[in-house]
Amino acid sequence: MSDSRTQAPFGRRLARIESNDRLGAYRLLAARDAGGPRDPQPGQFYMLAAAERWGGEDERPYLPRAFSYARAHGDGLLEFLLEAVGPGTRRLAELAVGDGLWLTGPLGIGFRTADGAGGRHVLVGGGIGVAPILCLSDELGDRAEVLLGFRSGAHAEAAALFGGAAAIATDDGSAGRQALVTELLRERLDDGDRRQPAVHACGPPPMLEAVRAICAERDVPAQLALESGMACGFGACFGCVAPTRNGYVRLCVDGPVLDASDLETALFAGAGH
Ligand code: FES
Repeated sequence: MSDSRTQAPFGRRLARIESNDRLGAYRLLAARDAGGPRDPQPGQFYMLAAAERWGGEDERPYLPRAFSYARAHGDGLLEFLLEAVGPGTRRLAELAVGDGLWLTGPLGIGFRTADGAGGRHVLVGGGIGVAPILCLSDELGDRAEVLLGFRSGAHAEAAALFGGAAAIATDDGSAGRQALVTELLRERLDDGDRRQPAVHACGPPPMLEAVRAICAERDVPAQLALESGMACGFGACFGCVAPTRNGYVRLCVDGPVLDASDLETALFAGAGH
């Protein structure tokens, strides 16, 4: 993967929904983006909006929602993992085959994979944050170990996308180990393997902060895919600013993937949804 981002074409494109399948607590939405770039980078994201009925009771349109893609196929098919947690995500979750989906992207800067010490990578995903970890693990193949954490067994069904190759932790022990995924990471980094890997993580802010601290203590390089409210997705609204050691950045254009070493903390005002 090169460190330069894949640029989004100007303007939004109308994609068509090809499938929308339940995956435990999530939906896996597939849309064909006929005119879009075929080579998004894991960690880049798209702004999504339903073409029809994208509004509340008073039909005021919602802002598009930002989603990291989970998989991109060479024929323009894009897959997104989503959980219906509010009116916008509920509308996306109910899209049917053949419906239109406005999308803009790919946006932002994704994961860089050239700096894995010894070529090893540990990927850490939490909840809906497993989406960019999936395409990254596809790209890295057997150079990556995957650690996934979920709230429950219903959420952990998303681990099936990884083909059984991931270690799983759940809060309630209903799938995998009853543990936080950061405990799995700590054990992996302390297992005596002298070839320390590079860590790549996406998940809720407390998980990312724990990953940042664990890696900082051990001097392990880490990249974190951060989330914040994104209104425009291309640098215009400043709704996604995040504090770093070098000042404020806009996550939609300077991230969403940042080096953990650039952050004092991943728990900043506005982090997450
Ligand atoms: Fe508007 Fe980042 S989402 S500046």
